[in-house]
Amino acid sequence: MHDELKLLSGAMVTLALATAGLVVLPFIQLKAVPPPPGLKAYTSAQLRGREVYIKNGCIYCHSQQPRDKAQAPDDTRGWGRASVAADYFYDKPHLLGTMRTGPDLFNIGARQPSADWHLGHLYQPRAYTPGSIMPSYPYLFEAKEKADPGDRVVTLPPGFKPVGKIVVATQEVLDLVTYLQGLDHTYPVLEAVEPKKK
Ligand code: HEC
Repeated sequence: MHDELKLLSGAMVTLALATAGLVVLPFIQLKAVPPPPGLKAYTSAQLRGREVYIKNGCIYCHSQQPRDKAQAPDDTRGWGRASVAADYFYDKPHLLGTMRTGPDLFNIGARQPSADWHLGHLYQPRAYTPGSIMPSYPYLFEAKEKADPGDRVVTLPPGFKPVGKIVVATQEVLDLVTYLQGLDHTYPVLEAVEPKKK
């Protein structure tokens, strides 16, 4: 009985310390952080697009957290400066991601602003990046005989269009692309001051 009590109290203390260090302290530290002046709130189309991003599991292959030079060469990969807590002010839940099977997308809107490129790439990644292992998302598009008024026809490289048909974007994929185009955190933030070397 004595040992069980020791085990139990040990476990409770460990859990309490971990909760304090990983949940309570960060919450107190970050709860009053304001959004950076350069960060815009999401529009309703972008929020719908964000849902499409979550639903289709983009987070399983793409992170949204460029890292500091000391941790990874993300700036030389063209993924942007290291993100700071304030960058995620409007992200509920945040979509940090841990896998980087594909590139980090935190600044994809600045790196690739073309809606045509995004639509074509989502329809068939291999049309733009030969050998890409990203899945294609044909169910976010419709193959039709001819375009109706108001349709957004997708321009595709030769050889990737279904024979005799045109490819039209659904509202879902248009929202997703609006979300991707808005992922731009290239505004400046205050850098942490490096301690002077003696
Ligand atoms: C199985 C892993 C995987 C999944 C799931 C995935 N991707 Fe990708 N993605 C990749 C890889 C690998 C690349 C790099 C090759 C390429 O450009 O196709 C990439 C590239 C991209 C790029 C171009 C990035 C750049 O820097 O040029 C965008 C944008 C993108 N993905 C968006 C998405 C979106 C949106 C989704 C969800 C609908 C998604 N991806 C799902 C693996 C994935």
